[in-house]
Amino acid sequence: MTAVQNALGGDVIGGGVTLDDLPLREDLRGRSPYGAPQLDVPVRLNTNENPYPPPPELVADITRAVQSAAAELHRYPDRNAVGLRTDLAEYLSASTGVPLTWANVWAANGSNEVLQQIMQAFGGPGRLAVGFEPSYSMHPIIAAGTRTEWLPAPRRPDFSLDVREAASVLRENAPDLTFLTSPNNPTGQSIDPDDLAELVDAAPGIVVVDEAYAEFSDRPSAIGLLATHGHKLVVCRTMSKAFAFAGGRLGYLAAAPAVVDALQLVRLPYHLSALTQTAARAALRHAEATLGSVALLRAERERVVPALTAAGYDVVPSDANYVLFGRFADAPRAWRAFLDRGVLIRDVGIPEHLRVTIGTPEENDAFLQVATDVADQELSR
Ligand SMILES: Cc1ncc(COP(=O)(O)O)c(C=O)c1O
Repeated sequence: MTAVQNALGGDVIGGGVTLDDLPLREDLRGRSPYGAPQLDVPVRLNTNENPYPPPPELVADITRAVQSAAAELHRYPDRNAVGLRTDLAEYLSASTGVPLTWANVWAANGSNEVLQQIMQAFGGPGRLAVGFEPSYSMHPIIAAGTRTEWLPAPRRPDFSLDVREAASVLRENAPDLTFLTSPNNPTGQSIDPDDLAELVDAAPGIVVVDEAYAEFSDRPSAIGLLATHGHKLVVCRTMSKAFAFAGGRLGYLAAAPAVVDALQLVRLPYHLSALTQTAARAALRHAEATLGSVALLRAERERVVPALTAAGYDVVPSDANYVLFGRFADAPRAWRAFLDRGVLIRDVGIPEHLRVTIGTPEENDAFLQVATDVADQELSR
């Protein structure tokens, strides 16, 4: 902190204070914040965004919508975001065939905020959450922030989920919350609806299916299980990935209306700004154009995977817009070798593996060129 200067060129006021000097909660000491590097390099394939920017018609529509919302900024926004939730329910109903209404949908600033509200309402001190790792790193971080005990249960060595084993973990530990990620980040595999139903039946508490990458997968959504399992199933989605709206920050969920009522007990009033609501509604009006890129990205995934295999890599099968690949003698060193050649990918902390987001054809070509170049030095033999 002392390296930063203030407006007059001096040291930052308070810059000498460290975390050790603060009365921080003991259970947060020594923890690391979420921190995917944000580096200015030619090819950025590390945070699973859609590489295609919003089309000009969408940019124009958002601009118009924000301009008219700006005239009302002296007023708080609709606290319950009913218009946006209605649009999201329509999108989900059309894409899954499950008839949902706004009362089934809740939205917040990114699905991370939705996940946090779920943990605040159903987790917390004295409560247990289970996840099957490796999986999305924010699940345990949000558990820590809400003082929810986190029990990491394993996946198979090939990263697939052993459903029988997982069901017995749930029966034995009786968690208040279970996190299932499908397709799983960072490994890419989805969970079949029959397997999901078995896991929801085995779990005594709330089951959160995190479907951040659902649009990239052919598998039916867990939303199809809401009619039969709605008393404990919550399906989380985001506009950050397929919708190319990561900068807009909009995540949402589908569940029984009572779950939405529960989240209203912990959400901050007016948490979704009028600008966010109006911009997200504009983005939803252009869903067809934006989601057109999903087919391109899936086709690129089908091109990247065999090219990596041909270069000597093991690739974990993926239903998402990223692939986990290896096996590196030293994954952090290999990550650096990619970065030194202008390609930022992700070291997710899984030994021998790195994760790459599927980008535009040009970005993928650049990545594959570097992957071929570094294979000789970096692959384990
Ligand atoms: C599995 C999963 N869930 C949730 C999120 C959070 O997305 P956001 O907060 O941008 O909606 C991500 C982002 O990478 C993710 O990979």
